[in-house]
Amino acid sequence: MAKKDVYDIIDQKFDKHIKREQLIVDAERFKTYDEVFDQQNLDNIYRLMKRKKIKTVECPISTGKEANVYLAKTFGKDAAVKIFRTSTSTFGAFLEYMEGDRRFQRIDRSHRGVIYTWARKEFMNLETMHEEGIRVPQTQALFRNILVMDYIGYEGKPAPQLKVLDADHDEWEEMWKIVLDTVEKLFLDCELVHADLSEYNILYDGAPMLIDVGQSLDLSHPRSLEMLDRDLRIISTFFERKGIDNARKDALSLKDELVATLEEDEQ
Ligand SMILES: Nc1ncnc2c1ncn2[C@@H]1O[C@H](COP(=O)(O)OP(=O)(O)O)[C@@H](O)[C@H]1O
Ligand SMILES: [Mg+2]
Repeated sequence: MAKKDVYDIIDQKFDKHIKREQLIVDAERFKTYDEVFDQQNLDNIYRLMKRKKIKTVECPISTGKEANVYLAKTFGKDAAVKIFRTSTSTFGAFLEYMEGDRRFQRIDRSHRGVIYTWARKEFMNLETMHEEGIRVPQTQALFRNILVMDYIGYEGKPAPQLKVLDADHDEWEEMWKIVLDTVEKLFLDCELVHADLSEYNILYDGAPMLIDVGQSLDLSHPRSLEMLDRDLRIISTFFERKGIDNARKDALSLKDELVATLEEDEQ
């Protein structure tokens, strides 16, 4: 879609209610709007605006494979708006993550249906985690493929991923303890496994904050233990590189401990 068309659509659809400058504050910065801001997504954003869930979409924070994240102004706290692409190529993998999960047994298997369910899954996972006291962005709203959550900022910018964080040894050690504790709580209290845990999906806003929980699996999923193992392997490798020498060992003993609780439950 050419740039002009996007403006035209916005003008046609919103002239009576809202100026396009109010909708998208800095359109020039929306390098990927061609793809994301199609008619359907503009409609969806407009619905969220009418419901007073967001005021304006400001600027992109991240453009990923499956979703783009934008900073948005609301009538309260700033928000991060995660728009899942309806044209995603990882559609097949989405189904696999959902089908074994007892919470999503009867889903609409159309393309849009799967993406909407995926967004709902991330929304539900965030709520469960928040209720159990895990540090995750709090949800604000969900509409179709658009998830609105608290914006996590640090020192006036979007909070950095652990991947790019500068910290000293004591700070890494402290963060490692929190990460282990988080994985344990996720498993024991939420009965979930993150399933994409890495230095990219933990932000730092003065403490670690878990994000990107769309793929997080219920323990009923047949691959949940495999994912737990993978999560712990990936994140402990990162912390080992940051100088936490026993990270791998800590991760293995946590895994054994968690698996043992399942075996106890079965008896
Ligand atoms: N609530 C948030 N507040 C601030 N930044 C965020 C928030 N959620 C996501 N981001 C930023 O957007 C990036 C991508 O979000 P994420 O949920 O990991 O999606 P994906 O990796 O699937 O594209 C994150 O790494 C982070 O930098
Ligand atoms: Mg991510």
